Amino acid sequence: MFSPYFVVQALWLFLPAYVANMAPVFLAKIFPKWDAPIDGGRARGDGTRLLGDGKTWRGLIGGAVVAALVALLQSFRPWDLVTDFGRASWGSILAPLAIGFMFGLGALVGDAVKSYFKRKSGRPRGAPWIGPDQLDFVVGGLLFAFLTGLLLGAIDPSFQWAETWFVHMWWIPPTLIVVTPLLHWLVNVIGYWLGLKEVPW
Ligand code: CTP
Ligand code: MG
Repeated sequence: MFSPYFVVQALWLFLPAYVANMAPVFLAKIFPKWDAPIDGGRARGDGTRLLGDGKTWRGLIGGAVVAALVALLQSFRPWDLVTDFGRASWGSILAPLAIGFMFGLGALVGDAVKSYFKRKSGRPRGAPWIGPDQLDFVVGGLLFAFLTGLLLGAIDPSFQWAETWFVHMWWIPPTLIVVTPLLHWLVNVIGYWLGLKEVPW
């Protein structure tokens, strides 16, 4: 039976990727000079950029590092063994650091891949693209973390993190795909009410 508790678990699991997805905007304010774009300024034949100046190495790497720290902090406050990012079961902080980093890196690689197709489809930097804009980092983050979990499981078969969250608890990824756009919308509406945003989307 579906339970609201699954949503709480899913949000806890994906928190490093949510933070990674928001981190680049703040990192851009803190380190304005580290603005080297991932595409190195390269453009297509028609002059449009491959990714654009909105996708920097600072955002990509910085976001992944922040996500690793978030997962590490979370791993010390688990309420059961599935929510500890593998720390207790493996007896090492390596698992939360590796999985958290890859949640963040995957989220931001997903975001950059989205920008590639966004530019290709003629949408300029910052233009909205409903759907891909909300789900790019969910797909990327889940994929990278799942593969990292499988890799750690191949090194030590007692490490069952990927199987637990993605096979045994197969409903977790679909839950995130449904809940994330709703959450995104809610955050924007609240931001608009508080006067932090000009428009409610
Ligand atoms: N950012 C960054 N590096 C990244 C991702 C984001 O530095 N890898 C920063 C940029 O300053 C960017 C801002 O975070 O402008 C907001 O991110 P996002 O909305 O993803 O980028 P956009 O500028 O809207 O570009 P796009 O249209 O390609 O999504
Ligand atoms: Mg944008």
